[in-house]
Amino acid sequence: MSSSRERLNLVVAATLVLLSGAALAQSAMPGIGRPATPKEIAAWDIDVRPDFKGLPKGSGSVAQGQDVWEGKCAQCHGVFGESNEVFSPLVGGTTAEDIRTGRVAKLNDTSFPGRTTLMKVATVSTLWDYINRAMPWPAPKSLKTDEVYAVTAYLLNMGGVVPDNYVMSDKNIAEVQARMPNRNGMTLDHGLWPGKAMKTAGKPDVKAVACMTNCEAEPKVASFLPEYARNNHGNLAEQNRMVGAQHGADTTRPAGSAVAAPVAPPPVKAESAPTVSALLQKYSCTACHAVDSKLVGPAFREITRKYGSQADGVAYLAGKIKSGGGGVWGQIPMPPQSLSDTEARMIGQWLINGAKN
Ligand code: HEC
Ligand code: HEC
Repeated sequence: MSSSRERLNLVVAATLVLLSGAALAQSAMPGIGRPATPKEIAAWDIDVRPDFKGLPKGSGSVAQGQDVWEGKCAQCHGVFGESNEVFSPLVGGTTAEDIRTGRVAKLNDTSFPGRTTLMKVATVSTLWDYINRAMPWPAPKSLKTDEVYAVTAYLLNMGGVVPDNYVMSDKNIAEVQARMPNRNGMTLDHGLWPGKAMKTAGKPDVKAVACMTNCEAEPKVASFLPEYARNNHGNLAEQNRMVGAQHGADTTRPAGSAVAAPVAPPPVKAESAPTVSALLQKYSCTACHAVDSKLVGPAFREITRKYGSQADGVAYLAGKIKSGGGGVWGQIPMPPQSLSDTEARMIGQWLINGAKN
């Protein structure tokens, strides 16, 4: 007598034979693979094209997008999309004028070091599609369609592309496209696209033939960065983007040498106030803080009053400036600030010393 499990196994086996028989009948290469099911194809076929073919119906507001952003994106990309910690900043470097012209002027400005997503991306469909398929990084494809609309709208809102009360949807996405800062900045004139260059060259460079006999065994290095040139542009590790901290090798040491041990911060001079005011400008602290009055954040003199007599005040404030955080002065948190330890300590010392102009 067969147990119910054995019977079940038989049924499963019979079904498999039936299925694979059907698959074999259709397959051009018998015995290899099986046709994908419509559901499998639907799961893969999620691309959204510039003409919005493939875009699912739905909508989401900037405000809903802020919730998605703060819950699922800000820890990596920064509260304002400005973080450079895991990837280049997403937001920054675009202007109202760019939205008018459809060309991001800073892309042609060699003195501007940053290249953010909003500076480069020409089609809103690409942004939507990328977020939909790849983000959040630890859980791709976990966002609901309406969440993708919402968070895309929020990113674009941070870039000034759509207003605060905007609700983005499949109905009005073309309107958003017409405001993308770099919508006219895409070139098709190269060998990877059927543009002019492709017409003259005929084909992209894909004609290389693999060498199978008498191949040169020793690879010849045709170009390399000579030792003396390594640090030609100054220490890359210390150079900052205007839109976030720069990742970079410590070029003051030879390639491949161990990472520099953290250097002890130099003693901070009390009379460094003028440099501090330059730092406060450079890192836009002054967008949220003033010396004597409360703006978004507390007045610097209030901070002095609170911590001026605290023994570890400088270290506490320096750490707090770098890590950001909230709840000490009110509900609004301060985003983490990307400045060096030395700079944070200078500002901390200046605050403890009385925040004098
Ligand atoms: C755990 C970290 C992490 C989280 C959380 C995260 N991202 Fe990302 N994001 C990344 C990384 C890393 C990349 C670069 C991936 C790559 O190039 O392969 C990236 C790239 C992107 C890009 C493309 C940038 C470009 O110019 O190519 C966008 C847009 C983006 N993320 C949006 C989001 C949104 C929206 C969320 C929240 C729903 C989110 N990310 C959550 C780490 C994260
Ligand atoms: C986007 C706005 C914003 C920017 C930019 C900003 N801050 Fe703040 N800052 C705040 C807010 C809001 C708080 C109050 C946070 C709280 O309640 O804990 C704060 C708090 C502080 C504190 C007090 C921390 C504490 O634990 O009491 C210091 C010090 C400080 N900021 C320094 C700076 C410096 C230096 C910069 C620039 C490098 C800067 N902030 C940039 C908004 C900002």
